[in-house]
Amino acid sequence: MVALARSHVLQPQVADKVEFAADVVAGLGAAPKRLPAKYFYDATGSHLFERITELPEYYPTRTEMTILRDQAADIAKLIAPGAALVEFGSGSSKKARIMLAAAPELACYVPVDICGEMIEQEAIELRADFPNLKVLPVTADICYPFELPEEAKAAPVRVGFFPGSTIGNFEPHEAASFLRNAAQILGPGATLIIGADLIKSADILNAAYNDKAGVTAKFNLNLLTRINRELRGTFNLETFEHHAFYNRERNRIEMHLASLKRQKVKVAGECFDFRAGETIHTENSYKYSVESLGALARGVGWMPAGVWTDADKYFSIQAFTFAGETAKS
Ligand code: AVJ
Repeated sequence: MVALARSHVLQPQVADKVEFAADVVAGLGAAPKRLPAKYFYDATGSHLFERITELPEYYPTRTEMTILRDQAADIAKLIAPGAALVEFGSGSSKKARIMLAAAPELACYVPVDICGEMIEQEAIELRADFPNLKVLPVTADICYPFELPEEAKAAPVRVGFFPGSTIGNFEPHEAASFLRNAAQILGPGATLIIGADLIKSADILNAAYNDKAGVTAKFNLNLLTRINRELRGTFNLETFEHHAFYNRERNRIEMHLASLKRQKVKVAGECFDFRAGETIHTENSYKYSVESLGALARGVGWMPAGVWTDADKYFSIQAFTFAGETAKS
């Protein structure tokens, strides 16, 4: 399905819809039921996520911004003059702007995101704010191999930037394949700068995903609204509830949507049964230690090159370099 959707046989929007339908039908047909977290980010979902980042309980975004602002000069020492900066899953490029302001002269900045519209718009604003910078957006799914623009390939070295703890949305084995893919794309001598949320007390973590204002609940439930709209779904939102909790054994926040009653729901012409209390697992947000992310990275050929944290050790920016040995697959 992925191969079909990603092939050039179909128009991109049609391919995206086909892939979305296939993923939802497969996920709701599985036991336990699950949906990929990447589908949270339609226009409403992206807006709700922006609101999450401003919540008092949700510390990751503001903590990461603080680390980047305070340490930008030091982090930028890892960026050689003439390097190409490649941002994975860039979205709004808010964090990249801090790096761009601190970095030496770059060959180019390559924001990579599945949402082409968003990065094209952002590129226009970046070109206005950084008139000497070549901004070369690439629309691609960062989980799969993609081609860099010629300028980025021709640069003496490439630096990857993957902020936002997006790596936490991957299963550990997926995080490892992402790191392998990044090494492949960036090539020998590359540096990779990753923002990763750190393991901490369950109280702080649980509060961050169960905000008092209920924005995270809305964000979670919006996935069902999106399915209703785009895939002719019949979810009654009154009968599903946001559940989020820290799973200590696996160092992850789990988000679920729990059915409040026994019911049937149709999506894309297919019928799905829910038991009372049955959940759809919608997201994992893995938390790392400096050691655990380091071990994962080393396992696929990335050597630790720097760590920056806030005073409370809530969040980390971790840098790695790739010697160029072929990462084991
Ligand atoms: C964007 C993946 C970093 O895991 O904290 C926020 C998404 N989900 N609240 C996270 C999210 C619920 C967020 N990431």
